[in-house]
Amino acid sequence: MNVLIRLAKRTAPYKGRLLLAYLSIIGVTVFGLMIPKIIGTAIDAVITSGSAKGLWLLAGGIILANLFRGLMAYGQTYFGESLGQQVAYDLRNEFYTHLQTLNFDFHDKHQTGNLMSRATSDIEGIRMFVQGGMIRSFFCISLILGVMILIVLLDWKLSLYCLVFVPFIIWRGSIFILAQRKKWFLVQVAMGHMTTILQENLSGQKVVKAFGAEEFEEKRFLNRTGEVAEHAYEAAALQANNAGMMTFFYMASTALILWVGGTEVVDGNMTAGELAQFILYLGMLAMPVRIAAWVTNSFSRGLSAGTRIFEILDSDPSIFNHDNADSTTKIKGEIKFENVSFYHESGKDILHNIDFRIKPGETLGIIGPPGSGKTSIINLIPRFYEPTNGYVTIDNISVDKFELINLRKNIGLIHQDVFLFTDSIRENIAYGNPNISIEEIEKVAKIAQIHEFVMSLPLKYDTVVGERGSTLSGGQRQRISIARALLIDPPILIIDDATSSVDTITEKYIQAQLENISQDKTTIIIAHRISSVQNADNIIVLNNGLIEQRGNHTELIQQEGIYKDLYNLQIAENQADQPLIQNNVSLKEDTNHA
Ligand SMILES: Nc1ncnc2c1ncn2[C@@H]1O[C@H](COP(=O)(O)OP(=O)(O)O)[C@@H](O)[C@H]1O
Ligand SMILES: [Mg+2]
Repeated sequence: MNVLIRLAKRTAPYKGRLLLAYLSIIGVTVFGLMIPKIIGTAIDAVITSGSAKGLWLLAGGIILANLFRGLMAYGQTYFGESLGQQVAYDLRNEFYTHLQTLNFDFHDKHQTGNLMSRATSDIEGIRMFVQGGMIRSFFCISLILGVMILIVLLDWKLSLYCLVFVPFIIWRGSIFILAQRKKWFLVQVAMGHMTTILQENLSGQKVVKAFGAEEFEEKRFLNRTGEVAEHAYEAAALQANNAGMMTFFYMASTALILWVGGTEVVDGNMTAGELAQFILYLGMLAMPVRIAAWVTNSFSRGLSAGTRIFEILDSDPSIFNHDNADSTTKIKGEIKFENVSFYHESGKDILHNIDFRIKPGETLGIIGPPGSGKTSIINLIPRFYEPTNGYVTIDNISVDKFELINLRKNIGLIHQDVFLFTDSIRENIAYGNPNISIEEIEKVAKIAQIHEFVMSLPLKYDTVVGERGSTLSGGQRQRISIARALLIDPPILIIDDATSSVDTITEKYIQAQLENISQDKTTIIIAHRISSVQNADNIIVLNNGLIEQRGNHTELIQQEGIYKDLYNLQIAENQADQPLIQNNVSLKEDTNHA
């Protein structure tokens, strides 16, 4: 219930509209209730006077009352609908904005498809609640109350007969709301699973096709759509069942009134006009009875949708700006890890007692087998995660003392998994900085060795890349992401295995350029090729989350260990490339095929 109150409070900023909707509803009810009264009066007038004189006045009255009723009904729909849309609009934006504040640990737990289904179908459920639960239900109640008052005034004894069924209706209604709420929750959860499969299938099309897994995926999807259909079907069956029951009670009470009331008219205790009026009033209840199931349904759906939306809105970001976070200090770039350990929430331990220091402008190379924790180390610097133990400092200030935006703007991060947006190459490089000039973009593109390739495209920098950059090769994407990171000219540059999908020759060129621009930057290079780190001031060798070796290249190749083994292995590979590099082969060809 709490959830529904919270949802209702969402209309608070639009009190005016809500009030107008309620006033319109009262108008609809009042004008609507006038009509049976006029008809009843007309019948009695004709019966007693035996002439149709003056009936035109009553007919005119009916038309007028209907006209106003229609006008008010328009207001009710207009204000109610716009209120629902407005609440949905606000909530959708708030949901999106809140998602931006949540961290990687949140996204580790919530699948994209599931969040998307909350942002769409659950918000729609809330819109329906405002429209149905808050507006329509008020209409039902005001109409039922109006009719009750009038029929009691008309003939209280006869009204008592109508009440016979009320306990049944209340009993059925409450069972229905509870059962339906559970059903809707199941529908929404199943919908989330289904959207997740759909989303993953679409973004993983290449894997699906490569493994010939279309049929497997179809079955997986079918299972989930089957679940959605099953629960939605059960919810619909429940609703139909309920609507049927309600209509049955209603019709039964009408039959009872006709029988008892008819006897009263024959006995002379009631006029024919009054009985007609009575039955017409009851007839007005047909609509609320019919939509009662829909209205209660909107309560149930609002309850389950609200629960799912508030679950996200209420989840606090685990990483946030602390009080007095530093938003101004110009970062020089000394990075220190002091006895840092890191565990994932799942309990898996990733890093143990990591200690190192990089002086401003120096370069640290990190080498280690896949899964050794290289990416985990650098994730701690921009506070994507927080260390379980120990300290990460920049310029001797703990990273959590900086304002997040300030911290992250000072770190140029080139990720291992490149993400490009469905936008032009220019926008992808300029990402987040719309006012950057094309000259600046070209400058960083040249450093990243992607300029020539871009110029070979028909629309050059305005060429739009496919979803996630699907129209480019892995190497091209990586180079665009390098250009993107260089553009913000950060004092700290972190390169996470970014040159892994470019060939050794291009890597050499990128590296030479990077060395140039990273002269005055603190740089961390994660690589799996020794050649990428051998010029670093310091290198750490990571294995199973532990620093196994450290030193510079010359020192490390003299020690027995992973580094030396890797070095010997790669010398053999590199020998094949050497002559090519010496011949200074043109990059042009490569840029097209990388
Ligand atoms: N979000 C996560 N949740 C749980 N475990 C993770 C997560 N990300 C990485 N890991 C685990 O942490 C370990 C180190 O991963 P990572 O730092 O990405 O290694 P590397 O970059 O050296 O290949 C791996 O065993 C990996 O399975
Ligand atoms: Mg990694």
